Amino acid sequence: MIRAGKVFKKGKKYLPGNSNSIFWPCVLLLVVFVGGCSDHGDPVGVIEPPGGNDPVSFSTDIQPVFDMNCIGCHGAGGNAGLDLRNGLSFNNLVGVEATASTGLRVVVGDADTSVLYQRLFGAMVAPMPPSGVLPESVQSLVAQWINEGALNN
Ligand code: HEC
Repeated sequence: MIRAGKVFKKGKKYLPGNSNSIFWPCVLLLVVFVGGCSDHGDPVGVIEPPGGNDPVSFSTDIQPVFDMNCIGCHGAGGNAGLDLRNGLSFNNLVGVEATASTGLRVVVGDADTSVLYQRLFGAMVAPMPPSGVLPESVQSLVAQWINEGALNN
């Protein structure tokens, strides 16, 4: 008992020193800082960036890519018999045998074996568009659309 009291006294003498007066403001600062961080973090979870976790839409996400980059060559009587114009592209792609490549243009649920994605990725085959591949964000959007079931949505 006496020994324990001595230890306690020792501790008390030590703590109210300079280190103690710095300690609590530090804890306060830390709490404010961490609190501030989580305040900043919350809206990110609430406001999702467009297309975040939502399923990709063929009509609003994919077709515009074709309109802007492909239909100059893949319009009426397009190259490789591929017509990517609005309203025709889906039936030209999904489950359709490729003519200038081996395999299906779009294999439902499997971007990697889909000729369309292989061409957009452009690593092992002639890339599309031929002038140079589109940004990775566009490639992965198409991959996501295929892997989500290549819906006509
Ligand atoms: C400058 C003209 C040009 C543009 C632009 C172009 N292509 Fe092509 N595409 C071709 C030609 C020529 C072929 C056939 C020769 C070959 O297979 O490389 C072809 C073939 C393809 C094939 C293979 C089809 C099959 O049945 O074998 C796919 C898929 C394709 N293009 C997709 C696209 C997509 C998607 C875009 C737009 C992002 C695009 N192309 C833009 C000229 C073009």
